Amino acid sequence: AKLLVLHGPNLNLLGSREPEVYGRDTLADIDARLTSQAQAAGHQLSSFQSNAEHALVDRVQQARAEGIDWILINPAAFTHTSIALRDALAAVAIPFIEVHLSNVHAREPFRRHSYLSDLAVGVVCGFGAESYALALDAALHRLT
Ligand code: DQA
Repeated sequence: AKLLVLHGPNLNLLGSREPEVYGRDTLADIDARLTSQAQAAGHQLSSFQSNAEHALVDRVQQARAEGIDWILINPAAFTHTSIALRDALAAVAIPFIEVHLSNVHAREPFRRHSYLSDLAVGVVCGFGAESYALALDAALHRLT
């Protein structure tokens, strides 16, 4: 099957961005581990990061044409603001898991609301880079 990992704004800075909150792994480290985790299970994984809402919306729309079976998405700040990203995910109707490195419920109150969570199959947050691995594990289980 085909899986797509989407990373929202500022996640390109992982490794140097508030490492006490987000850890020291870079996005390239995370993507490389996810790719081999998916390949080991016999599946294909691609990833995409953008700081731009429209680029993420376009990538979600494109996912349907490409036959993507599962999406893992860390929408970053767009979690709390983006009706457009929510609508795109609803439109393509591809099952997705919402991922956050930090425990968004233990931070500022504005991070507690997500425009995506109620459409997600599930949400994983608070485990640092491991949040992505746990989410991928859940998706892979549902594929086999
Ligand atoms: C984040 C949490 C968001 O609130 C924040 O805006 C981010 C990263 C996380 O992975 O913990 O950029 O999605």
